[in-house]
Amino acid sequence: MGASCATCLADRDFVNEIVIVDVKPGLAEGKALDLRQSAALKRFDTIVKGYTGDYSATANSDVVVITSGITRKPGMERSDLIATNAGIVREVSQQVAKYSPNAVIVVVSNPLDVLCYCAWKSCGFPSNRVLGMSGQLDVARYKSFIAEALNVSTKDIQALILGGHGKSMVPMPRYTTIGGIPIRNLLGEEKVQEAIHRTQLGGEEIINYLGRSGWFAAGAAVCEMVEAIICDQRRVFTACAYLKGEYGYNDIYLGVPVILGENGVERIIELELDDDDKVRFHDSQIEVDKTLSILKNMVKL
Ligand code: 2OP
Repeated sequence: MGASCATCLADRDFVNEIVIVDVKPGLAEGKALDLRQSAALKRFDTIVKGYTGDYSATANSDVVVITSGITRKPGMERSDLIATNAGIVREVSQQVAKYSPNAVIVVVSNPLDVLCYCAWKSCGFPSNRVLGMSGQLDVARYKSFIAEALNVSTKDIQALILGGHGKSMVPMPRYTTIGGIPIRNLLGEEKVQEAIHRTQLGGEEIINYLGRSGWFAAGAAVCEMVEAIICDQRRVFTACAYLKGEYGYNDIYLGVPVILGENGVERIIELELDDDDKVRFHDSQIEVDKTLSILKNMVKL
């Protein structure tokens, strides 16, 4: 996923340099070399470097994307990864804080919402500079299923998903439009629910084919977030952000609409939720909170 993100970033050619770091000897160096050699063909000038475990090479990064950790296998929940990935994300976040104290950190590792919390506690940055990518991926999946059902372009779909990055995520048909037209004017309720359900299980569907998580869509989703931050675009995305009372929740990371700019989360947008939305959001919060309790018991934060 890190390599997929690096590829998208290089293709868009808006950053000076990408540094890939991996623990596996030679992997980052090899990927970076391959990517660099595509520059003449794809016409980008971004410099791409790779290092084995050397975080000093990432010094003074503006944005750091953390994709480290093991990935799910068929039959696993994202929360099953917490025991291994919390330690990895903690270690990486501390290294990021040491070498790039002004960076914005975008976490991608799973279980996403809880590992955002872990990264934030470990690096000591203000919470606006530690956020997670899941909403952009989940929204992209949701859009692709709606586009398929309606036989329309994904480009004209606007959509929103709240809550944790898990089966209880909360796609919001009330805030889903196609060319400005509310989805329920164009698609029957059964098809809307099908798109929602398939989105909630979007990660699993790919794992069942590949035996591991996918990377193309996730890499592209992170790239969009990095662009919004680096170029201070103030895009409105669903991101995993630290809540201090928003939506009635405190001291937890959850997916919410935010304005993304050079400082990371510039603002969390609070929407009016109806009773059904509130119940679904609450269920999702409970899921995340369960895994957060495991984290709090296993790592001294
Ligand atoms: C997914 O949903 C990896 O969690 C990620 O595919």
